[in-house]
Amino acid sequence: MCGIVGYIGNKKATPILIQGLTRLEYRGYDSAGIAVIEKDKIEVKKDKGRVSNLYNLDGIDDLKGTCGIAHTRWATHGKPSKENSHPHMDNDNLFAVVHNGIIENYNELRNELTEKGYHFLSQTDTEVIPNLINYYYKQDKENDTLKVLRAVRNACTELKGSFALEIICIKEPENMIVVRKDSPLVIGKGNGENYIASDIPAILSYTKDFYFLNDYEFAYLSKNNVKFYDTELNEIKKNTKSIEWDSKGAEKGGFEHFMLKEIYEQPRAIRETIGTRLNSSKVSFEELGFTKEYLETINKIYIVACGTAMHAGIVSKNIFEKLCKIPVEVDIASEFRYRDPLIDEKTLTIFISQSGETADTIAALKLAKEKKAKTIAISNVIGSSITREADYSIYTHAGPEIAVASTKAYTSQVTILTLIAIYCAEILEKADLAKIETLKKDLLSLPAKVDEILKDTSAIKKFAKRVYKEKDMFFLGRGVDYAVSLEGSLKLKEISYIHSEGYASGELKHGPIALIDTGVTVVATITDEALVEKSISNIQEVITRGAKVLVITNQNLENKGFETVINIPKISTEISPILSIIPLQLLAYYISKEKGLDVDKPRNLAKSVTVE
Ligand code: AGP
Ligand code: GLU
Repeated sequence: MCGIVGYIGNKKATPILIQGLTRLEYRGYDSAGIAVIEKDKIEVKKDKGRVSNLYNLDGIDDLKGTCGIAHTRWATHGKPSKENSHPHMDNDNLFAVVHNGIIENYNELRNELTEKGYHFLSQTDTEVIPNLINYYYKQDKENDTLKVLRAVRNACTELKGSFALEIICIKEPENMIVVRKDSPLVIGKGNGENYIASDIPAILSYTKDFYFLNDYEFAYLSKNNVKFYDTELNEIKKNTKSIEWDSKGAEKGGFEHFMLKEIYEQPRAIRETIGTRLNSSKVSFEELGFTKEYLETINKIYIVACGTAMHAGIVSKNIFEKLCKIPVEVDIASEFRYRDPLIDEKTLTIFISQSGETADTIAALKLAKEKKAKTIAISNVIGSSITREADYSIYTHAGPEIAVASTKAYTSQVTILTLIAIYCAEILEKADLAKIETLKKDLLSLPAKVDEILKDTSAIKKFAKRVYKEKDMFFLGRGVDYAVSLEGSLKLKEISYIHSEGYASGELKHGPIALIDTGVTVVATITDEALVEKSISNIQEVITRGAKVLVITNQNLENKGFETVINIPKISTEISPILSIIPLQLLAYYISKEKGLDVDKPRNLAKSVTVE
């Protein structure tokens, strides 16, 4: 999920590769590496840590090769370490591969290859790829010019998941092969040289002319030529497109801000977080390995986190209780840790942290451990501090999140928590099977439904223009719609500096309704069918008092007289926050933009809060 760079031409590849990686550093990564074709072998230099560390590696200055591949890694499988860094090679050192993405069936492939006599040096999913290519290469008795390409193609047809791949082979030192599926990759055309990158800024200083690859299109490069092939290895024609972005615009993939880019990355983040966990008949979490006997001893689940991560916990309380019939408490980490919580070995504790470095959440986890509770860490960063402390670690695969305001991490967290709830419920055999089946189907439909919401954002933009000068806003909802309102309100506060409150609709009349006056803005979310009528009454109450109202709903509210209604796709109520949060994220974003604020780096906030 991080960076790829490649070069083939007449110049020394190493400086170009390292410079390209440096330009991708803003994305965050944990390791870096390059592979260059030297006289009679492929030389690999890699290590965990900064790109600049590459300059200190033995022999790096001696590399003279003019064809090479490079990578910054954002670990998804296997902790950040030298062995797990890319490039990876096959057992015969014929091929070097860098990979962005996740190979979902790597376990099966690894077992199959192990049976065939291959061995593995890393814990990555990636290492199956060079060995699979090696296998097909050796199986192939032909000796024509497409032999390496055929081996790569055959290997790719076995890969499930997402990948952007660069492959070099010592048997063809003048060529390079690249291919992608659901992970970005572009080819920059030079004069007597060609460049590859996962993200345009890496190579924008060398060329403005790019070829864009579609899924499963293979590019076969030499310094003077780029040929494209489909999966049948029929040659296809492609034209370059000229990119006029400046380097800042390019970092954001053409989006104006990282936050917007990350909002639009949510379909992919959710898809990758689900991964293969839903492929089998039952949801699988090999890292947990819970038994029915163990889960039956659990009498309470505690979900502990800060900020947005805590809001993801509030959403999932409902589904855990409904499916597992175990009471759930959700707590703020900085409160939990100082109030001697009632927990023991019969408590299952879940700690959520995108960064995995939040001081209060880590301290809360340590406290739970001291009290003998089982601890699960949910994080987006492999090998982060919290995952080193927990009994079990589970990762969301949202990819690096750069904007301070969390968006794709939240939807991935709610997704993974839902999967864990289903996993426990299936073991406990307490939940209604039809309900579980519907939830599974709905989870798989999420990426397409998020895409649908993102297709047309004009109504939200329009509403943002209408209300961006306001001083106060209320976010209202009942049940899960209340949970999502808390997150919507936090997003607005963080990046627009407008005072806002997330309130349970039914609680409004117990005090805060005194604040509703002409012109106050109220954003109401209504997705729970059972509570529609009650929610409508609450909205009428605020309209009567002069509020401007925006309603986000998946119910039919056509004739209810609301001025602005954003319709979102229908889905099981329990996971509707994964959809209803999208318009709320966009509202906060467009308001902040309208006010001309620093969307990605709001005042006083840090991406990772490592102080208590
Ligand atoms: C989210 O938009 C916030 N910036 C903040 O609330 C954040 O979610 C919180 O600090 C927790 O961070 P973590 O998930 O990295 O632990
Ligand atoms: N899944 C691969 C790994 O963990 C690639 C990660 C990436 O995209 O950087 O090594």
